[in-house]
Amino acid sequence: MSTSGATREKPDAEVQFCLVFRCERLSVPVMRRVLGDTLRGLGVDTESVDDILLAATEACTNVLTHGGQQTGGYTVLTRLGAVGCQVEVTDEGVGLPGTLAPALAGSAPPDPAPELIPVAQLAESGRGLAVMRACVDDVTLDSRPGHGTVVTMSKHISWSSDAPVQRLRAAS
Ligand SMILES: Nc1ncnc2c1ncn2[C@@H]1O[C@H](COP(=O)(O)OP(=O)(O)OP(=O)(O)O)[C@@H](O)[C@H]1O
Ligand SMILES: [Mg+2]
Repeated sequence: MSTSGATREKPDAEVQFCLVFRCERLSVPVMRRVLGDTLRGLGVDTESVDDILLAATEACTNVLTHGGQQTGGYTVLTRLGAVGCQVEVTDEGVGLPGTLAPALAGSAPPDPAPELIPVAQLAESGRGLAVMRACVDDVTLDSRPGHGTVVTMSKHISWSSDAPVQRLRAAS
């Protein structure tokens, strides 16, 4: 599933880091703390950090809520570039439930390949995806029924003038 419009290519990452969690409730506040402290420490502007954390919280909560009992864990991969931040939340849970198949209105039944479905078509679902869309510039949800889900959130960011990444950039 994906929103339309904004660019979806991966930012030319200068920094990337990956957090790995077990599927347990405590992982969400821990994710928020670690991701927030790291982004702020690297010099990402605080307004963007707040938005990214809210969106990531919804995506991670969805893993716990919808991933299914067998979902062992999930990852939160963050890529940071000169003007963009991309956060990818990946699980190996049940994927998009078949009950949402009608969202593919008028199309043939989904094949086993990963489906990219407009997030807007899930408007009748809860508010989590809407919150993500409101907080970042682009949201995609790539669901493989039975094989998990990847939610990718991209946002333009700015850096503080004394950000460590600026020094990295200047040195390269
Ligand atoms: N990681 C995931 N695994 C499986 N299904 C997912 C996942 N993330 C989202 N979904 C599906 O997308 C739907 C919409 O998600 P959304 O967060 O908008 O709503 P919700 O979680 O149902 O409700 P709310 O977030 O308001 O509590 C979910 O109901 C679920 O069917
Ligand atoms: Mg939700």
